[in-house]
Amino acid sequence: MNNSAPNFSLQGRKALITGSSQGIGKALASALAHSGAEVVLNGRDTAKLDAAVAELKAAGLAVTGCPFDVTSESEVTAAANTIGPIDVLVNNAGIQRRSPLIDMSLADWETVLSTNLTSAFLVSRAFAPAMIESRAGKIINICSLMSELARPTTGNYAAAKGGLQMLTRAMCGEWAQHNIQINGIGPGYIATELTAPLMADEKFDGWIKGRTPAGRWGKVSDLTGAAVYMASPASDFLNGQILMLDGGLTAVI
Ligand SMILES: NC(=O)c1ccc[n+]([C@@H]2O[C@H](COP(=O)([O-])OP(=O)(O)OC[C@H]3O[C@@H](n4cnc5c(N)ncnc54)[C@H](O)[C@@H]3O)[C@@H](O)[C@H]2O)c1
Repeated sequence: MNNSAPNFSLQGRKALITGSSQGIGKALASALAHSGAEVVLNGRDTAKLDAAVAELKAAGLAVTGCPFDVTSESEVTAAANTIGPIDVLVNNAGIQRRSPLIDMSLADWETVLSTNLTSAFLVSRAFAPAMIESRAGKIINICSLMSELARPTTGNYAAAKGGLQMLTRAMCGEWAQHNIQINGIGPGYIATELTAPLMADEKFDGWIKGRTPAGRWGKVSDLTGAAVYMASPASDFLNGQILMLDGGLTAVI
């Protein structure tokens, strides 16, 4: 029997987190770096990315930035060449374009599908070969409670996040044999810029607090422990799973 404490350390590991100059991505970058990882932050807006990198560096963390658009195949390929092999990839970049399906433009459909789903395919495909070669890697896909449940005006988003849940399982089917663990986190309603319009809506805010068994919005810090676990040796036999971190919302009608 092994009596040692579980190993949650990320010492010596290099991680890339897409869309990490704000919100959930930035919080995950900080948490992984605090756990010992060298973290590459990503975003499209260089000034915003530089500010996030500077903020985390000032806290003594080992972070750098690599600007690229996760929906661009050529930019993703170039970034993989610049960054080199990584141990942990967090596919976090995501957007919302809310509209009833009947009024939804094809552009809003395609932008959300490409940013929230196709990007995870593109970025994982670019970084997985080095993980396969070294026979080690962790991929964490930031899914959503909308991988499981839909709501009016989020048809594009729910379709993308449902797809991302299945892509997580598909990657597991192909890459688990190479000692890569691919899992997902499904945040519930978390207070970030993405959900700021919802929080500002008094009726919606009240509905969320009533509908969520925990009775509150989630905080970005509610997600960090699971990300560290999924990035660390402690999760070496966890594969193809989506952990719903939603205050119980998907557990209770
Ligand atoms: N906030 C929530 O309640 C919630 C709930 C479930 C899932 N999520 C998911 O968590 C992830 C992070 O969301 P957030 O709330 O922090 O949102 P956010 O808007 O604060 O941050 C998303 C980040 O992704 C970046 N991004 C968008 N498109 C990009 C692109 N093409 N290339 C590179 N970067 C890009 C944005 O610039 C931004 O920095 C998203 O995938 C989102 O769908 C959020």
